Amino acid sequence: MEIMNLLTSLIAIMILTLSALGFAFTPLSFLLTTVLPYVAFATFLAGFTYRILSWARVPVPFRITTTCGQQASLPWIKNSPLESPSNVWGVIGRMALEVFLFRSLFRNTDVVIVGQRPVYGSAKWLWFFGLLFHWSLLTIVLRHLRFFIEPIAPWINGLSAIDGFFEIGVPTLYLSDVAVLTGLTFLFLRRVVAPQIRYISLFADYFALLLLLGIVTTGLLMRHFFPADLLHVKNLALGWVTFAPALPKEAGPVFYIHLCFVFTLMAWFPFSKLMHMGGIFLSPTRNLANDNRMKRHLNPWNAPVKVHTYEEYEDEFREKMKLAGLPLEKE
Ligand code: HEM
Repeated sequence: MEIMNLLTSLIAIMILTLSALGFAFTPLSFLLTTVLPYVAFATFLAGFTYRILSWARVPVPFRITTTCGQQASLPWIKNSPLESPSNVWGVIGRMALEVFLFRSLFRNTDVVIVGQRPVYGSAKWLWFFGLLFHWSLLTIVLRHLRFFIEPIAPWINGLSAIDGFFEIGVPTLYLSDVAVLTGLTFLFLRRVVAPQIRYISLFADYFALLLLLGIVTTGLLMRHFFPADLLHVKNLALGWVTFAPALPKEAGPVFYIHLCFVFTLMAWFPFSKLMHMGGIFLSPTRNLANDNRMKRHLNPWNAPVKVHTYEEYEDEFREKMKLAGLPLEKE
């Protein structure tokens, strides 16, 4: 019944939409602009910190190396400083490539059985659409800072100008909006269409994608079909960051749905797989230099162990062993 996971996440999104409309058309709308932003943000911060600290506390007594590159050893053996870094600069390089370019996903492979033999081929689609989605999401979030900063920093205007470079339509269609929608649609269809991926997809997998799709769709609807009062939105956003939250005016149901989705995303984030955003930096296979041949790594948590050597054992039982005819190292 793997389809149930998809259905329940669709229902969850519908419940969220209805709750947002509930906020929009009742006196409770003040909650959405004055209380929930803080609840969501505080949950995000506290949860994020808690998860990071609990990962950071896990002992990593030895280097977990990945073996896809030659480690640094003798001077005449060519090593691979990014695959198997031996110092902190190499680790920073490897991490940067991972974070900015999803380098290990680039190595993703596909397997097909030909005759009775598995044949591996390259599979770059996930890498491509994954990268497209993440970069465009970052661009959108950075562009949104225009609501929270006054005067708007020139780089935000610059970013928006580049993003709307082709000046398609009025208001301009942002490239990042098209890209994020394309990326998310691929990631979603991949889970629904490919039977193997559908089989391993959980509620949380669909929910993350649908929630993001919901945020993007409502954002696009606001920008191109049901314009929000941007002055009021800016007023609200500035009110949040200056701890003087404003009461809502008639901002339109789409805006409330957009906000409700965003707050849900924020509050759920630390408890979801989306925490890979912070977790990547604590991943031992990415953040530890492979310097096993240069340094001896001792486990600092090793408790002193009381050992009983064979010599001591023989001393203790020599007479009995002799009687039993057992061979002895020392007579
Ligand atoms: C995870 C956070 C968020 C994401 C991913 C997101 C995504 C989007 C997207 C894709 C659009 C379409 C137009 C564009 O790209 O600018 C949009 C528009 C919009 N968003 Fe968001 N949004 C987020 C948070 C927020 C927040 C916190 C607010 C409230 C201040 C907000 C208010 C708006 C408004 C008013 C528009 C319409 C902008 C326009 O007409 O130009 N969004 N959003």
